[in-house]
Amino acid sequence: MNKVVAEHQGYLMQATNATIQFGGLRAVDSVNMNIEAGTIVALIGPNGAGKTTFFNLLTGIYTPTEGEILFEGRSVSGKKTHVIADWGISRTFQNIRLFKEMTVLENVMVGRHVRTHSGFFGATFRTPSFRREERQIQEDAERWLDFVGLTDHANDLAANLPYGAQRRLEIARALATEPKLVCLDEPAAGMNESESADLDDLILRIRDELNITVFLIEHDMKVVMNLAEYIYVLDFGKLIAEGLPAEIQSNPAVIEAYLGQDMEAAIKAKRQALLESRGEKVATPPATPAPEAAPEEAVMDSDGVVMVMDADIKEKNDAA
Ligand SMILES: Nc1ncnc2c1ncn2[C@@H]1O[C@H](COP(=O)(O)OP(=O)(O)OP(=O)(O)O)[C@@H](O)[C@H]1O
Ligand SMILES: [Mg+2]
Repeated sequence: MNKVVAEHQGYLMQATNATIQFGGLRAVDSVNMNIEAGTIVALIGPNGAGKTTFFNLLTGIYTPTEGEILFEGRSVSGKKTHVIADWGISRTFQNIRLFKEMTVLENVMVGRHVRTHSGFFGATFRTPSFRREERQIQEDAERWLDFVGLTDHANDLAANLPYGAQRRLEIARALATEPKLVCLDEPAAGMNESESADLDDLILRIRDELNITVFLIEHDMKVVMNLAEYIYVLDFGKLIAEGLPAEIQSNPAVIEAYLGQDMEAAIKAKRQALLESRGEKVATPPATPAPEAAPEEAVMDSDGVVMVMDADIKEKNDAA
C-alpha cells in the first residue's frame, strides 16, 4: 500500500483537526470526521454551528488555518475550487444559486463544462470536436434533468421554476460534474412536506443508483433521520457528538445543544418563514423571520467551472 492510501485509511473524506479561524472566532474548531464511500452522512447542529463553513473548507472556498482535510488521500488545502471539483467533489448552496436568466437545461450544461476538453480554440472556431462535445454535453444534461424529474421544464427559465424544483435543478447541476461526493447544504430548506418527501427519494437514488456518496447538511430532522446512516453534530464549531441516528437522538449533549431548543418548533418556524417568503400562504404566522438571502455572484472561471458565491466570500477570496 502506498503512503497516501495508507494515510486516508480507505475513507473517501477524512478531516483531521480541521480548523478555520476568522479573527477571534474558530468557526470550525479541531474537527475530526471520516466519510466512507457509498454512505449518506449528515452534518447537523444549531444555526451558526459551522456546518456551511465546513463545506467551504472541503470545497476549497476557504483553506483550513489548522489541520487537514483529505479527499481520497489528497489534501484539499490551498487547492482551487475547480481542482477540487475535478477530483470529484460537488455541492449545492444553502441559498439557491442558479443562473436565473438561463434555461433549466443551460444551467445543467454549465455544470457539465467541468469535464470538457475542447479548449478556447475549439470553442472560438466551433471545430467538429467542439460541436460533438457540445452535443454530448446537452445529451448528458438532459439525462440529469430526467434523473431529477425536470425534463418537462428543460426550456423554462430557471427563475420561473417553483422553489422545490429550483433545489432539484441545483442538485442536477452538481451531479453533472460526475462527482464521487456530493455535498448538499440544506436541500430541504423551504420545501413543503411533499417536496421534501420527493427529495428523500432523490437523495437515496443518488446513492443507490449513481453510487455517489452524499454529505448532507440539514435542519429537517425527518429528512436526516430517514436518510443518514451516520451523523456528525457541530456546536460552536466543535464536534459534540457523532453516531448512528438512534444514538444521536438520545445523546444528552445533542439534546442540550440542539434538541433542547425545541428543535421541532424551530424547524417548523423556519419552514413557515421560508414558505411565506416565497409568497405561499401559511396557517400560522412564523415565529422567526425568514433568513435573508445573501447577495450572490455568478462567475465562471477559465476552466468553465461555475463559481457562484456570496459577494462577501468572493471579496475575501479576491483579497486573499
Ligand atoms: N467569512 C467569514 N468571516 C467571519 N465569520 C464567518 C465567515 N463565514 C462564517 N462565519 C461565521 O462562522 C460561524 C459559522 O457559520 P456557518 O454559516 O458555517 O454556520 P451554519 O452551521 O451553516 O449555520 P446555519 O444553520 O445558520 O446555516 C458563524 O458565526 C458565522 O458568522
Ligand atoms: Mg449553513
